[in-house]
Amino acid sequence: MKACIAGIGSYVPAKVLTNADLERMVATSDEWIRERTGIRERRIAATGEACSDLAVQAGKRALTAAGLAATDLDMILVATCTGDYPLPATACLVQHQLGATKAAACDLSAACCGFVYALSVADAYIKTGMRHVLVIGSEVMSAITDWTDRNTCVLFGDGAGAVVVSAGDGERGILSTHLRSDGTLCELIMVRGGGSRTPPSEKVLAERLQYITMKGNETFKVAVRTLEEIARSTLSANQLRVEDIDLYVPHQANIRILKAVMERLGLPIDKVMLNVERYGNTSAASIPIALDEAVREGRIKDGSLVMLGAFGAGLTWASAVIRW
Ligand code: UT7
Repeated sequence: MKACIAGIGSYVPAKVLTNADLERMVATSDEWIRERTGIRERRIAATGEACSDLAVQAGKRALTAAGLAATDLDMILVATCTGDYPLPATACLVQHQLGATKAAACDLSAACCGFVYALSVADAYIKTGMRHVLVIGSEVMSAITDWTDRNTCVLFGDGAGAVVVSAGDGERGILSTHLRSDGTLCELIMVRGGGSRTPPSEKVLAERLQYITMKGNETFKVAVRTLEEIARSTLSANQLRVEDIDLYVPHQANIRILKAVMERLGLPIDKVMLNVERYGNTSAASIPIALDEAVREGRIKDGSLVMLGAFGAGLTWASAVIRW
């Protein structure tokens, strides 16, 4: 039994925040942002638009593409670090909105690796008897972004992407998933306040601890190293060469990180999906949004060999190879 991608969809909020807009908010420039990150614009959720709202739209599109009803789903997994509430899981709000009356629902927290981690969970459940699992990466990063901090506010954006993972028995499907973590590097990317260690308080708000902080330069170096390492071990585990991959779909954090990885792996740019320019870093949503665009642009077709690569807070890093 293989876990196949039966349908895919994505949704991004309508509001576009450009680098020119950011120039009016913090001491930055369009030139700096483009040169250091490759980002030109990002989408921002409307006031009152939360993680589950984006997830529901992406989920509906994936279900339509799969030709399935929400009632066919056995499970809904939402990968996110910006859920609607600390409790309950955003996946339960999605389950309700979709009317997925038979589905189990829970969230998965692995930051930017969340989608690939959730995909591996879906893969395992399909191999042990489930038929259809909806995997969604959905983020409202704008809610945890400090809009006065130029080190981080230029990087992130909002959006959601979803796949329906279904049981199949042909050549198609998830060939392997690879998950890694290193908590010794947990301080590189953090939201320090609002959890059980430092519950919400006036002090948290005064010190702006509810927002994401990042040691960008150190994260950059680890990202390049881990993305290369996991891509190599993924290829070798599947007895594949880089040339066998039709499209590499990495987490869209920074064009310079991705160019360094392409160079190290010997991957030509036409075999890499890049859309960081238009969406920035949408954390767990970035890979499924990129996958959906690649399918719609005809860069992924039935039978394509696709490799995913992600890294993020934790630190976590992860990969997958899929015969589409
Ligand atoms: O998905 C989560 C994983 N996170 C990432 O992948 C992010 C990885 N890191 C990065 O993408 C990059 O490190 C950044 C884009 C965040 C920063 O680029 P960098 O080339 O590593 O710059 P830097 O941190 O070394 O900073 C260089 C300079 C500093 O000024 P000084 O100290 O040299 O005077 C910063 O203060 O750039 C300054 N700077 C800015 N200048 C204009 C930082 N942010 C900005 C800004 N506009 N927005």
